[in-house]
Amino acid sequence: MKVLLLLGFVAVALAEVARFDGEKVIRIRPKTEEHVTIIKEIADSVELDFWNPEGPEQVVVSSEVDIHVSAAHADIVSTLLLQSELEHEVLVEDLQASVEDQLDNQEISPRSYNYMKYNSWDKVEAWISSMAASNPSLMTTEVIGQTFEGRSMTVMKIGKQSSSTKPAIFLDCGIHAREWISPAFCQWFVKEAMETYGSDAQMTSLLDQMDVIVLPVFNIDGYVYTWTNNRMWRKTRSRRSGSSCIGADPNRNFDAGWCTTGASSNPCSDTYCGAKAESEVEVKAVADYIRKHLSTIKAYLTVHSYSQLLLFPYSYTYQLAAHHSELLQVAEGASKALRSLYGTQYTSGPGAVTIYPAAGGSDDWAYDLGVKYSYTFELRDTGRYGFLLPESQIKPTCEETMLAVKYIAAHVQKNL
Ligand code: ARG
Ligand code: ZN
Repeated sequence: MKVLLLLGFVAVALAEVARFDGEKVIRIRPKTEEHVTIIKEIADSVELDFWNPEGPEQVVVSSEVDIHVSAAHADIVSTLLLQSELEHEVLVEDLQASVEDQLDNQEISPRSYNYMKYNSWDKVEAWISSMAASNPSLMTTEVIGQTFEGRSMTVMKIGKQSSSTKPAIFLDCGIHAREWISPAFCQWFVKEAMETYGSDAQMTSLLDQMDVIVLPVFNIDGYVYTWTNNRMWRKTRSRRSGSSCIGADPNRNFDAGWCTTGASSNPCSDTYCGAKAESEVEVKAVADYIRKHLSTIKAYLTVHSYSQLLLFPYSYTYQLAAHHSELLQVAEGASKALRSLYGTQYTSGPGAVTIYPAAGGSDDWAYDLGVKYSYTFELRDTGRYGFLLPESQIKPTCEETMLAVKYIAAHVQKNL
């Protein structure tokens, strides 16, 4: 009886998790304005999940457009693309297989934390406490707010204790729920900091002089949802009266040219900018924290995936930032450092010019507030696996990204 009951529960639990059997990811290369219009028309008639760019409003000529199509619509979309002579290729034949292939690293000892696997929020949360407990001289934690569903947002403040307040770098991961390599990087960063303080000259100098404030998962509710219900979820999980659609895009919800470009005012869109700037409690919590510590925060780094880019302001306008040449120089140096390890190529530049205009992003907001060194990372890859980057790539991705982050940190330190 017990077994039957248990089986029943398992069946119910499994039934709730979205599956992606037969669903495809297609890359389209629009060459003309007409092609762009066709893509937008397809997006209007068929429900598409945009992987890159994030929405139909951001599709431009001679870019690559990666879309996730349901099994039911895969054939019709292929036919439409063929008829309109739009160059395209299938990146992912069967998304469910890719979702399963992603977890390709073995579990190690159950007692040690595995940085080379994707970790659920329960694990990350326990890890935050245990890291703080075992590194009391280098780390403190602080709850900066609660998510919509009531989870605590905890920052890990890393650095050598000091009687005076130290200048700091703010680093967040996991603004978008499905970009799993991003939280994996924040965990890696904290591990490296703890393991190499005292032996690595640069890490030691950085943590002696500055603090690094790490928010390991920004959009916790969304992240949990990608584990329990839908691997492809991007937004927060907030509900509002008047719409049955859930969540807003946290990286369209900051108060930087809010909802003027590259964002949607449709609550059902994946790039919904929210009811107003900072309507999302997670965004408000981070914005409040940065405003409160503005005099000490010298750099803002935010980690996304995928595309291999190092972006800086602006994204809400084509105008160049006041510190454009310095920001570009540092981005190029960081990209070069990153490439030196495994040859991974990054492109760097202002968001609007380099990819597409998109307002309401955290990088632009932090920069306009006065945080000069404001960067958005888009980690590996360039679309082969996209959001489903296999675990076997966590280590190389994090190792190379460390070099870029340390390059930026060194520049910030030099210019304190
Ligand atoms: N792919 C990221 C996003 O759309 C890029 C962020 C770049 N910065 C920005 N403010 N749009 O959120
Ligand atoms: Zn993102």
